[in-house]
Amino acid sequence: RISSNVREGILVGCGNPLLDISAVVPLDFLQRYSMNEDDAILAEDRHMPIYGELVEGYRAEFLAGGSVQNSLRIAQWILRQPKVAVFFGCVGEDRYADILKEKASSAGLDVHYQVKRDVPTGTCAVLITGTHRSLCANLAAANNFTIDHLEEPGNKALVENAQYYYISGFFLTVNPPSIMQVAATAHAKQRPFLMNLSAPFISQFYMAPLLAVLPYVDIIFGNEAEAQAFAEAQNWPSGDLREIGKRLVALDKLNPARPRIAILTQGCDPVLLIQQDSVQEFPVTKLAVHEIVDTNGAGDAFVGGFLSQFVQGKSLDVCIRCGNYAAGHIIKNPGCTYSGEPEFVE
Ligand code: AP5
Ligand code: NA
Repeated sequence: RISSNVREGILVGCGNPLLDISAVVPLDFLQRYSMNEDDAILAEDRHMPIYGELVEGYRAEFLAGGSVQNSLRIAQWILRQPKVAVFFGCVGEDRYADILKEKASSAGLDVHYQVKRDVPTGTCAVLITGTHRSLCANLAAANNFTIDHLEEPGNKALVENAQYYYISGFFLTVNPPSIMQVAATAHAKQRPFLMNLSAPFISQFYMAPLLAVLPYVDIIFGNEAEAQAFAEAQNWPSGDLREIGKRLVALDKLNPARPRIAILTQGCDPVLLIQQDSVQEFPVTKLAVHEIVDTNGAGDAFVGGFLSQFVQGKSLDVCIRCGNYAAGHIIKNPGCTYSGEPEFVE
């Protein structure tokens, strides 16, 4: 069963552990909450009834979610060797936390949650309309992550011991000091630090902490809408994704010996690999509409597939092909879940 030969704890990630509450809803459900078909937003008070409504009226499914935790679970599935990846995030002390922990652990992920007794575990409403999904995250306990969790001796050792680091843009809304600390550790040890643009609202409302960490970022992931939102917030001419990618990799970098790389996905269109002056395309095998269960988690699975190869020191070409493989697989399953054994061949 064990196919890889990477060591335990080689990859560390931080993010928001969320339980996804997913259901197919009619368009007017979105309209009632002033949401759009492909949104990813943070819940405000007016969104709070959504979760109860989904459970009571729409036969909602409960699925393990949270962007970074999704990616690491998928990486573990492909690696078939437990505890290669370590995850930090904050949960409450409740049944949702138990479900998340069980799903993560059974995927082989080594989770080290910070637990806040009086706050519920975070949830994310996944509102599916046809092939679109709209996300509304109620971070709850996830929003209470503090840097002292990373400073506990056992956790500190895990961070120091890793060789690769991955944090989402989503985590910028929670605890930038933790991100900066992990980024500085990666930098001091000359180890790769990977990040994700995560959602347009991050560039729109969290540009300052994003720009603060960007000099540390060796690889930045994003989709079309996220790259466009970054460009707009920077007052770059928007439109051409290749041009945006080139500008992204050219932004200040602390370790110039390792030029930044941008990897931009565009749904069923080719993945763009952008390095200094080159742009390469990696085709995606388009799925027929009847094969698509939901695209929820496609971007996260792409990163998971990528990481599973990257931590083995594989070429970017192999990493991206595995990213596409993993994304294609989870699209055929509900949420960011997999079925059966991985079948990626280099
Ligand atoms: P969500 O945003 O749905 O997941 P995602 O992984 O980003 O998936 P998308 O469907 O948005 O894909 P994408 O647009 O990024 O990528 P692309 O379409 O380019 O997020 C899901 C999770 O986010 C949830 O579990 C939730 O818990 C979590 N979350 C929400 N808010 C959060 C918060 N505040 N904090 C933390 N977590 C939060 O596609 C990528 C790849 O997929 C392509 O390159 C390709 O390989 C493949 N692909 C896509 N479409 C097709 C197709 N039609 N045919 C074949 N392959 C395809
Ligand atoms: Na899916």
